Amino acid sequence: MFAVIGGTGLTQMQGLVIEKSHTLTTPFGEPSAPVQQGTLGTQKVLFLARHGHPHQIPPHQINYRANLWALQALGATQIIAVNAVGGINPNTPAAGIMIPNQLIDYTWGRPATFFEQGARTDGVGFEVTHVDFSWPYDEDLRQHLLASAHALNLSVTAQGVYACTQGPRLETAAEIRRLAQDGCDIVGMTGMPEAALARELKLPYACIALVVNMAAGLTDEEITMAEIEAALQQGMGKVLKLLTHTLSA
Ligand code: HPA
Repeated sequence: MFAVIGGTGLTQMQGLVIEKSHTLTTPFGEPSAPVQQGTLGTQKVLFLARHGHPHQIPPHQINYRANLWALQALGATQIIAVNAVGGINPNTPAAGIMIPNQLIDYTWGRPATFFEQGARTDGVGFEVTHVDFSWPYDEDLRQHLLASAHALNLSVTAQGVYACTQGPRLETAAEIRRLAQDGCDIVGMTGMPEAALARELKLPYACIALVVNMAAGLTDEEITMAEIEAALQQGMGKVLKLLTHTLSA
């Protein structure tokens, strides 16, 4: 079963007929919100609002471990993450969609692995494990998303590098120049450790990134919430279409 993790601008999924809402606790604590289970078209799907519903948990305080654990416990076998991002590469305009194929993690201090001592409240231990993360996103799932975009005649950028910053503040112009030099195309605050934790649980994971602003210093203007909200309004319809098609194809 697919699970969708919705980010800013996607705390509820239009078209999802909710059958159950699961309030659960995991050995890593509580997920961001109750997990909704329902059908989208003919497909069963799980949905979780990453920042809670209503939107209230900042990126660095999200319990990513509980979120991923809860989804797997409820039967998720693959995960599509939706993330609002800033555009660094000039080819990623506001309201554009990218399906990234790489990432660089600039976050710090976030519980980022299931494999550490004392991580579980029930005291169950893990062996030290180093998962392969050369290709952080699942290529089959990415291709599935790209095929859906193609079928819908939706223009998406088929690959790119997602930079995950700590937030919750936006970046400085110099930080964005550095990210550009590092080869990053888009920047967000919630892609990690989510992707790595999915890999640790062997859950195929891919990301739909919606560009909601040009990153800091790339225009003469300050970045405003109004600008971000306008791009979310404009772009989230496309994201929903892409999700619906992907889940039912
Ligand atoms: N930077 C980091 N995260 C973001 C941005 C940004 O410019 N826009 C939306 N999420």
